[in-house]
Order: sequence, then C-alpha cells, then structure tokens
Amino acid sequence: MLRYLTAGESHGRSLMAILEGMPSGLRVDKTTIDRELKRRQAGYGRGKRMNIEKDRVQILSGMRGGETLGSPVALSIPNKDWENWKLIMDTFGPSKGEKVTRPRPGHADLVGALKYDQDDIRNVLERASARETAARVAIGAIVKVLLSEFGISIVSQVIQIGGVKAKVEGLKISEIKRKASGSKVSCPDREAERLMIEEIDKAKKDGDTLGGIFEVITTGLPIGLGSYVHPDRRLDGRLAQGLMSIPAVKGVEIGLGFRVSELPGSEVQDEIFYEQKKGFYRKTNNAGGLEGGVTNGEPLRIKVALKPISTLQRPLSSVDLITKKRVKATVERADVCVVPAAAVIGESVVAFELANALIEKFGGDSISEMQRNYRGYLKYLKQR
Ligand SMILES: Cc1cc2nc3c(=O)[nH]c(=O)nc-3n(C[C@H](O)[C@H](O)[C@H](O)COP(=O)(O)O)c2cc1C
Repeated sequence: MLRYLTAGESHGRSLMAILEGMPSGLRVDKTTIDRELKRRQAGYGRGKRMNIEKDRVQILSGMRGGETLGSPVALSIPNKDWENWKLIMDTFGPSKGEKVTRPRPGHADLVGALKYDQDDIRNVLERASARETAARVAIGAIVKVLLSEFGISIVSQVIQIGGVKAKVEGLKISEIKRKASGSKVSCPDREAERLMIEEIDKAKKDGDTLGGIFEVITTGLPIGLGSYVHPDRRLDGRLAQGLMSIPAVKGVEIGLGFRVSELPGSEVQDEIFYEQKKGFYRKTNNAGGLEGGVTNGEPLRIKVALKPISTLQRPLSSVDLITKKRVKATVERADVCVVPAAAVIGESVVAFELANALIEKFGGDSISEMQRNYRGYLKYLKQR
C-alpha cells in the first residue's frame, strides 16, 4: 500500500511529506520534481506570494544514488517567506503578529477557530492554506515517474474559468498536452485563453475572484486497477475523495459526469467490441475509463470544478470572533484565480491514487518485481 502524510504551515519553515510504500529501484531526478513544483506555482491569476517562493524539493531520506530504496521517502520544500514571518510564526516564543479575528466567508477561518478553540485565526489559516498542496505535488511528481515506467501518462487542461468555456471537443491527447502547456491558463483553446485572461483581469480590478473547471486525462492504464469488491477499494471513490480534498474543489465528474442523468442508457453505456490484436475495446468512452470502480483500459477522464477563491480584496461582511461586531472580513494576500495551478494538483492526486492501485495489483517491493508481474498479467489478458 502506498500512503503519505504532509505537514507544514503556509508561512512556516517548510512544507514536508513522507511517502511510504514506494518500490525500490525507481530512478527519480530532482529536476523532475522541481519542474512540477514550478508548474503548480504558475498560471495567470496567482497572487504576490508566488513571486516570493521558488519551490525546490529537498529529499531527506528513502533515496540513494538517484534511486528509491523501498524505505519511506521524506521530503521538504522550504518556504522562502519564512524569513519574513519568523517572529510571527515562532514555535516557542510569543507571536509578534497581530491576531486575525475577522473570519473570511468560504474559508476554514470560522469553523476552524471554533472547532480548535482558537482566538487567532492565523492558527487555522496557516494549515488550511492550499500551500500544503506543494507537498502533494512533490509526491505526485515521484509517483508519476513510477506510472511512466508502465507507460501511463497524465495530462490536464483548463476548460472553463468563470463564465468562459473552452472548445476542446475532439482534441487529441497530444494536442491537449502541447497546447495546454503553452498557455498561460493551461487552456488549449487560444480564443478562450484570451477571454479567460480578460475575465481574470476584470475580477482582479473589481477586487473579486474566479473559479472554473479543469480536466485530468490519464492514458496507458491497463484493465483491472481498483475493485468493485468493497466500497473503499472502488477506484472512482478513491479518486473522487482525493480530488475533493484539494482546497476549493466542489465537484468531480467522471466521464460524461452529471450529463448521464439526462440521457437514456442506450446513449450512455459504452458498447463492447473485440479484435484479436486489440483485445476488448470500446468505440466511445462515456464511462471515462472506469466501470464498477475498475479501470477498463480506456483513457481515464475526470473533470473537477473549483469555486472562486475565498479571500476577496473587496471583502465580504463577517463578524469579529472576539467582539461579535459586524465587520469586513480579513484581507490576506491572495490569488485571484488558481484553476491552472489546481489542474497540476489534480494531476498529482490522480497520479497518487493510480500508483497506489498499480502497487496493489502488481506488488510493490521493487520496480523489477512489479514489471515482471505486470508483463505476466498482460500476457494473461492476451490469452483471454
Ligand atoms: C492552488 C490553490 C491556491 C489557493 N489560494 C488561495 C488564496 O490565495 N486565498 C484564498 O482565500 N483561498 C485560496 N485557495 C482556496 C482555499 O484554500 C480554500 O477555499 C479554503 O481552504 C477553504 O476550503 P474549501 O474551499 O474547500 O471549503 C487556493 C486553493 C488552491 C487549490
């Protein structure tokens, strides 16, 4: 089983993670992880914090000579901004910072302060912040390398920001990859990209924020990852949980998603075909690559909806935590739109769930053992 824990506050010393259950013998480059961290920091609409940070990973354990050892991989991503926050975030000394007492609607501020009995909302927002996702992206970068050993690759595209919807129907995966990676908002449709940037500029000018939708597409998956035999082994459920745990994510759709509810079964289910060379296959992919919580060999397609960022530069009404007086919510330094960054986090989360399912199916002590088992399984499928 593959599992991880993350730790770290937004303005603390660093973000950290321990990834346990990685097979030995996987070659991972530091530059590969740093490239993914950089992708998470990018995207039109991010705030000033991302100009300060230049995220770079430090691997503290679990690797030697550029290869995983099978032992826990511990990693750290130092916060550059920590230098400016040392006195406010001091672990033992009294905080030199002013207390935050005006909860922002839509953030964890109020519920966190009440639940954890805090009168300084900074003690909540530092961990509730999506800065935590830098650790998840570092983990995602490592497990993506594992997936690539088995011919599995993941791309993402932004298909909506605010009211602007991209035209992406019928694009090939290679086109999505090329066009999205060359876009400031990770959108392959150039006209939509232009309008999205305009929307973000307008929201920024108005002191407002925007949400949107991204899609994560995985290719090269074998039939048979995940299982229907128990609820917590269904891959659809595991993917949805992982994606829903990304801050600001409010919806996850697999394949046709919510549209399945309005169509008859004959237009939703993907008919089954067989050719000796290909084996079993489909001509449509409305299921998005999953049936019964199990991969069916078709590309895995998941759409994810984000709400607009909670911190508004033109703040909404709130109530002071201490005085109970009506006030305007706290204004923290904040992003205007993070859908492109969230797409990178989404890729990482999907990569983790798939790597976990791959290890479950093919054993996880060493890469060579996994590959032997994988080849044996493919041979078995060919003979069916
Ligand atoms: C990459 C990323 C960056 C984010 N940046 C901010 C931000 O700068 N300000 C903010 O208020 N919320 C930001 N959010 C969203 C909040 O973290 C999120 O709304 C909050 O934790 C409450 O969780 P919920 O929206 O899932 O209920 C960001 C989310 C992501 C994925």
